[in-house]
Amino acid sequence: MSETSKLVIVVGSVREARFGPVVASWVAEQASAHGSFDVEVVDLADFEIPLSLPAASPKYAGDSYPRPAGMAPLTARLDAADAFVLVTPEYNHSYPASLKAAIDWHFTQWTAKPVAFVSYGGAAGGRHAVLHLENVLTELHAVTIRDGLAFPNYFVNWDAGRPADPDAPGYAKTLFNQLAWWAAALQKARAEVPYPD
Ligand SMILES: Cc1cc2nc3c(=O)[nH]c(=O)nc-3n(C[C@H](O)[C@H](O)[C@H](O)COP(=O)(O)O)c2cc1C
Repeated sequence: MSETSKLVIVVGSVREARFGPVVASWVAEQASAHGSFDVEVVDLADFEIPLSLPAASPKYAGDSYPRPAGMAPLTARLDAADAFVLVTPEYNHSYPASLKAAIDWHFTQWTAKPVAFVSYGGAAGGRHAVLHLENVLTELHAVTIRDGLAFPNYFVNWDAGRPADPDAPGYAKTLFNQLAWWAAALQKARAEVPYPD
């Protein structure tokens, strides 16, 4: 087993003039500083992710699932990942449709892997979005990480691409400590024993 885990940080919003890439960039910096991960930022805006799904379920179709050609690089990155951070805003007390579509087009890519959350928004800091994501990721047999990061009122609490809260890097370290533990444990487990149906 390699000493580092492949971490994919997903930019969940694809909106014009979105803030998501700013948050993801800072998260990537914190992840790299942690030293446990090979870090890659994956921006959903870079891929073809239609809302209309094939008739079959990705759960049972496996590699034969008919995804569009423009989704292939996204699927490859999700496949290769040992751990995820989903960076999500809050839209109408949930997470963006772009992120739901990317999740729903895949299944085994999430299974038996840890997923952490970094959210931002108004007063609730995107917590409604994360509560919904935790539910959804459980259905995909992912392991959700207890300690996430939530940035309320990011428009006044971020400056020059960084959170104003001086404790934010410490909270990120806690998140990455837990994510690294689960990533290594599940990487080993997946290699040793196939995940049960
Ligand atoms: C359709 C829509 C719905 C929103 N609903 C909420 C909400 O329920 N709670 C909240 O805190 N912020 C809400 N916001 C504000 C977003 O959190 C804020 O615009 C944020 O920048 C969105 O992330 P993005 O810039 O990466 O797209 C909403 C924004 C949009 C576009």
